[in-house]
Amino acid sequence: MCGIVGYIGKRQACEVLIKGLKRLEYRGYDSAGVAFSGDSFRIYKCKGKVSDLEEQLKDKNINGCMGMGHTRWATHGEPTNNNAHPHQSMNGKFVIIHNGIIENYAKLKSGLEKEGYKFASETDTEVLANLIEYVYLHNQNNGDSLSCVDAVRVALNMVEGAYGLVIMSEDNPEKLIAARKGSPLVIGIGRGEYFIASDATPIIEYTNSVIYLNDDDIAVIGLDGLNLTNLKKVKQIPNIKKIDLKLDEIEKNGFEHYMLKEIYEQPRAIRDTYRGRLNFESKYLKLGGLHNVFSELKEAKRIMIIACGTSWHAGLVGEYLFEEFTRIPTEVEYASEFRYRNPVINKGDLVIAISQSGETADTLAAIQLAKKAGAIVIGICNVVGSSIPRETIAGVYTHAGPEIGVASTKAFTAQVTVLTMMAMAIGQANQGLTEKEFEDLIGELYAIPDKIEKILNTSNHIKDIAEKIKDSTNSLYLGRGYLFPVALEGALKLKEISYIHAEGYPAAEMKHGPIALIDEKMPVIVLATKDHSYDKIVSNIQEVKARKGCIIAIVTEGDTTIKEMADYVIEVPQSDFALAPLLTVVPLQLLSYYIAVYRGCNVDQPRNLAKSVTVE
Ligand code: AGP
Ligand code: GLU
Repeated sequence: MCGIVGYIGKRQACEVLIKGLKRLEYRGYDSAGVAFSGDSFRIYKCKGKVSDLEEQLKDKNINGCMGMGHTRWATHGEPTNNNAHPHQSMNGKFVIIHNGIIENYAKLKSGLEKEGYKFASETDTEVLANLIEYVYLHNQNNGDSLSCVDAVRVALNMVEGAYGLVIMSEDNPEKLIAARKGSPLVIGIGRGEYFIASDATPIIEYTNSVIYLNDDDIAVIGLDGLNLTNLKKVKQIPNIKKIDLKLDEIEKNGFEHYMLKEIYEQPRAIRDTYRGRLNFESKYLKLGGLHNVFSELKEAKRIMIIACGTSWHAGLVGEYLFEEFTRIPTEVEYASEFRYRNPVINKGDLVIAISQSGETADTLAAIQLAKKAGAIVIGICNVVGSSIPRETIAGVYTHAGPEIGVASTKAFTAQVTVLTMMAMAIGQANQGLTEKEFEDLIGELYAIPDKIEKILNTSNHIKDIAEKIKDSTNSLYLGRGYLFPVALEGALKLKEISYIHAEGYPAAEMKHGPIALIDEKMPVIVLATKDHSYDKIVSNIQEVKARKGCIIAIVTEGDTTIKEMADYVIEVPQSDFALAPLLTVVPLQLLSYYIAVYRGCNVDQPRNLAKSVTVE
């Protein structure tokens, strides 16, 4: 995720770009930068927010009617001035801004280094800038140099991954080049002016005529018009649309709340989290961030997972995954408990700290304790360059994009995706998994985003159920095995945004006390997809029904048994038991969201909560 803007026309570009970047800052806020064409490129960039960049520009009196800007959400290289976009190629021929991930950047970078290229940043984006320049300077077409756009085209055909790009070239200073594959780009068409942006938010105050670029599109934009082709140099007909969205809606892409937008972003977030790490065709799995510690990981005698809140629930799923796939004893601890109970930590133990924000005080303190005791401490985090990645010796970033809603959703499924890949990688290395099990899991994980999309299409049915139970005062969430942590997560979601008291429990534990709570007013949400404990969960449902409890069951699609006994049923596609958390959590996220909306709660900023708990 990041925010991209470009402009060419009759206005002062600087004002248009800064205003546009502020509208896109929700997409990423690690660093910001702008570039302007002219006799030579003028580039200004800095770590921090757009307002920090604005401060840097204020006494520079920047003129010019063409330029581009970027507000970054880092994936490769920490948020620093050097890693901020725009990036200029080594010989100064091209300047680019990029949204996305160049998966094969390492291979391209080493090839360019062999050709004498030096790099000023750690980003994958700078690799692309130098690749385009290298192609431009070293390729010819029937004896003539390639045009700038053809050099871009040749380079993009060499790239694997996702990009939304805006490019300026020294030899063609009146043109902006925009290209898209996997990351959104919109072109706004004004009177004698053009706008480019990651979404329509920065555009709609100037024009409502837009072109949404498609994958493989390459647009060359100048005051003389727009030329659209694709990666194969085939002319494309621009599809001009009229938009009538309100500004506020667009920041949320038309969703009423960030939380709902982030629930719907989960297929993309999971694809981005496994992009460049998992390859279905070649059955390849590599977590680059663990490369320097992987040999210790696979020899670890014990794994301890430390986290808080939703991240702790992800850790609980991780416990089941690691023990099943690697047979390494694994335990999960609340970071706040771990740090004060004088835990037994042995040298060589593997400690995994999970955190969306990377700034949670209890988790940070627990990391210090584990490091002091000689453990190998790695992180799973969603914010590049935040404190936890800096305090751990290795780790894996979830590429979920900025999570704005206080209630964590896409970060949870991205964390579980990373934990699944970690357990698979270690399990393959220490023979906890057979090759066939490993390859089957790759296919299963690859299919998860499409299955989530199927569940999201049933949101109206889930909304209807939410309407039925919105006035409850209590609720119980039950699950077994991999789905017990999901029961806890579902209960937390309901609590924190609708303020209804909810408890998650292992389903078998219900008869050891909580069953006393059951009556016709108590909704009982049961995670009951087909797995090895299915018959047991059916009995638990019958026990609740015998006490007139209201059952909402999350079942595998096509299940008729539970449909007969439950009051409401929500179906999810079949999956490997171990991956069921990634699917079954989605209906629970939507259920809590709709209940909170019906109750008029502030879904994105629930009372008493903060997005990142940086205090004890
Ligand atoms: C989850 O919806 C809450 N926002 C909260 O429990 C959160 O998961 C917890 O504070 C941990 O935050 P972290 O992942 O940023 O460390
Ligand atoms: N991968 C690029 C970087 O890390 C772009 C990230 C983004 O989309 O903001 O700089």
